[in-house]
This record gives sequence, structure tokens and C-alpha cells, in this order.
Amino acid sequence: MKNLNSLLFFLMVLFAFSSCKKDKIDITYERYTADDFAVLSQTLNIENDLKDYTFVFPQYYQSRSISFDSDLATLGRVMFYDKNLSDDRTISCASCHKQELAFADDLAFSEGVSNRITSRNSLALGSVFNFAEYYGDISQGRIPFFWDNRAASVQEQSRQTFANEDEMNMPMHKVMERVEEADYYEILFKETFGDSKVTEDRILDAVSEFVNSMSSYRSKYDEELDKHYVNTYNVTNIEGVDFTGFTTAENLGKDLYVSKCGNCHGRINGFPAEVQANNGLQMDYDDEGIGEISGSSQNGVFKVPTLRNIALTGPFMHDGRFATLEEVVDHYSNGVQNHPNLSPQLKQGGQAKAFNFTQTEKDALIAFLNTFTDEVMLADVKYSDPFK
Ligand code: HEC
Ligand code: HEC
Repeated sequence: MKNLNSLLFFLMVLFAFSSCKKDKIDITYERYTADDFAVLSQTLNIENDLKDYTFVFPQYYQSRSISFDSDLATLGRVMFYDKNLSDDRTISCASCHKQELAFADDLAFSEGVSNRITSRNSLALGSVFNFAEYYGDISQGRIPFFWDNRAASVQEQSRQTFANEDEMNMPMHKVMERVEEADYYEILFKETFGDSKVTEDRILDAVSEFVNSMSSYRSKYDEELDKHYVNTYNVTNIEGVDFTGFTTAENLGKDLYVSKCGNCHGRINGFPAEVQANNGLQMDYDDEGIGEISGSSQNGVFKVPTLRNIALTGPFMHDGRFATLEEVVDHYSNGVQNHPNLSPQLKQGGQAKAFNFTQTEKDALIAFLNTFTDEVMLADVKYSDPFK
């Protein structure tokens, strides 16, 4: 008994001692040597103790966690923001994909190298719940890249973007040359791969790791859905169920969204219900979208984008024709054109459907779309510009 008491006493002292010690010791893992870090610090703002690219999703998404390689994602982050990787050193991925705009830009058509203009509106990389699990090969149930769904991986998409003469105008061998000439890449490559050999695959894998780590799951909508969570059934059937933290308008907008828009744009934490569709913007398109690749039966058919952070990513549609969400809602209310390829979802009795929303309904839809804005993602340091 005596022994036990003194053992307990000993353990308590040890515990008290170790817990106060823990407060005092500041353990930071130094990733780079002092010399390497000094070189990096001349150009970059990245910390010696890298950001963690691990996510824990809300319980309505099974509280799953997903981890990305911090070294590889950090290297990709530097490349994403590096203007040296464009022909005239004026443009980076971030020029057209800005963090504060959910990685879209605010132009109808973006500006690339030598003031050239892209032929389509920049797509918001922050418009999805979980980039890595959303995009990919359509045969594996994933959503391909671009307005015409023409690329199946970020690597493929990035290769096309680097090389696109209106965007960065850099075939991969030139990208490699620029990476080889920068002292910071030598250090980042060594840390990531064990040696500083520059290859096409390493570059594309790094950009891909960073872009894949983009995740928008912390909006007001997510918070409410999480509060509401009991089981999978009840989070997939949210029409007519009021969210306690939503205003009356937001709840009405939610119900309108689920019944009128969800058949295409899908549940906002998952995939769109339709991968591609024609939504009747006009009778005769200048840009035929998927039809440009596959022929007239798909003229005017475009990717159905998901709508996370949609309040920030205007102007809207593949050609940025609508400046505001009011204009978008007016289009669906009574502007849909009876295009030969118009989706059956927007047709009634052979004619284009008009939802004829009242002003209250229009305001409600927009109030609901605003709940998709994810301030946490927009301010998250691990996605921010690392250049000084
Ligand atoms: C000059 C502007 C510009 C630059 C620079 C640019 N992008 Fe884009 N990005 C666009 C446009 C415009 C689209 C839509 C193009 C299309 O669909 O044909 C797009 C589409 C994408 C998509 C597809 C998203 C989806 O939902 O399908 C990804 C991913 C992407 N860009 C990543 C990048 C990366 C990574 C870089 C740098 C290597 C980059 N972009 C550089 C303008 C740009
Ligand atoms: C037939 C399927 C369909 C239905 C139903 C539908 N949409 Fe769309 N939506 C699309 C397609 C396709 C696009 C892209 C069209 C393009 O750019 O040519 C789009 C684009 C949008 C955009 C612009 C996205 C961006 O990133 O530029 C918004 C906003 C939008 N829809 C909101 C709504 C709302 C609100 C409703 C319900 C009132 C709705 N949609 C109903 C198919 C649909």
C-alpha cells in the first residue's frame, strides 16, 4: 500500500513536471538547413516548418481525412505563383486563378502573356468540395477538366495551360529551363525528391499536388449541413427542411435550388447531377463548347460547374456574359432559349421552360448561393502567394 502511494505520488510529480515542461519547450521541426533557408528567404515567404496539407472533412462527409505531401504541395504552390514560368515572365497560374476570388478571376476573358486574351472565362478552382476526389477521368466517375471537359488529370490540364499561347506560352522543355535556373527550386527539389534533378513529371506532379489540395468545405452552408447531420439520408434530403442558422430567405433559396437547379448542379457537397449540358444561353453559339470537339450533336454543350464560392467568381458562364448573379437568375427565370440541344431539365412540352421566379424567390436563391462562400479557404495561408 505504501509502495503504491509513493508510486502514485511519483507519477503525479512526473506528470506535473512534464506538463509544465511541455509548455516551455517550443519544438519546431527545421526542414531546411540554415544556409538553404537563407537562400529561400531571399525570394520566398515560406516557413522553415511547412504548412500541413491535411484536411478533416465535416461529419456529414464521414469526417474523413485526406493528406497531401507538404513538401510536394509547397513546391507546387511556389510554381503556381511563379511568373518566371511564363514566356514573358508576367503571368503565373495565380494571375487568372486568384485566391481571394476562389481561384477564379473577375474578367470575362482572362489576360495571358503579351496581353493575349483567353477564349473562355477562367474556371474557379475553389468551386468544389474536394478537388482531388472531384476531378479526373470520366470513366472512373470523375469530372474532367475545362469548360469542354477535354482533360482528365491536373497534370494533363497543366501541360496544356503552360503550353497554351494565350496563357503562358511555355512548352514543357522551356518550363524546365526556367525551373533549372532558379536557386530556390534547387533547394525545394532536394527537399522534396532527395535530389535536384528537374523533370517534366516532377514539375507537373508538384503543381498537381498543390491544386489537388484545394478544398472548400467550411462555408455557412457546410456548417448548417453539419449541424443538421444525423445520417446520410437526412443530409441528402434537405428540401423543405429548415436549417436553424439560415434566414427565411436562405431556407427558401435552398428549397428552390434543390428543386430547380440541383438536377444539374447537384448536391453542393458532391458531384453535379449532369456532367455537361446546354442551358439555352442563345440559339446559335459562337463557341460551341464540347461540340467544337465532337460535332454538332453537342453544340452549345458545356461543363456543368458546381457552385461553391459562386458569389465571388463572376462574371458567369463560359464567356462571362452575365456580370451578376441577378442576371444569371433572370436567365433561368425567363431567358432560356429553345436551343436544339437544350437539356430536357430545362424543357417543358417541347418549349424552353420559364421558372418565372417572383422577386422574393430571386432574392432567396441569391441569398442561398451566398451561403457557399468559404472565407476560411480564401484566407488560408497554405494557398497564399509565397513570393516576397
Ligand atoms: C491566362 C489565364 C490563365 C492562366 C495563366 C492559367 N489558367 Fe487555368 N484556366 C484559365 C481558363 C480561361 C480556364 C478555362 C479554359 C477552358 O475551359 O477552355 C482555365 C481552367 C483551368 C482548370 C480547369 C478547372 C475546371 O473546373 O475544369 C484548372 C485545373 C486550371 N485552369 C489550373 C491552372 C494551373 C495549374 C495554371 C498554371 C499552370 C493555370 N490554370 C494557368 C485561365 C488561366
Ligand atoms: C440543364 C442543367 C442546368 C440547370 C437546370 C441549371 N443549370 Fe446552371 N448551368 C448549367 C450549365 C451547362 C452551365 C454552364 C453553361 C455555359 O457556360 O455555357 C451553368 C452555369 C451556371 C452558373 C454560372 C457558373 C459559372 O461558374 O460561371 C450559375 C451561377 C448557375 N448555372 C446557376 C444556376 C441556378 C441558380 C439554377 C436554378 C435556377 C441553374 N443554374 C439551373 C446547367 C444548368
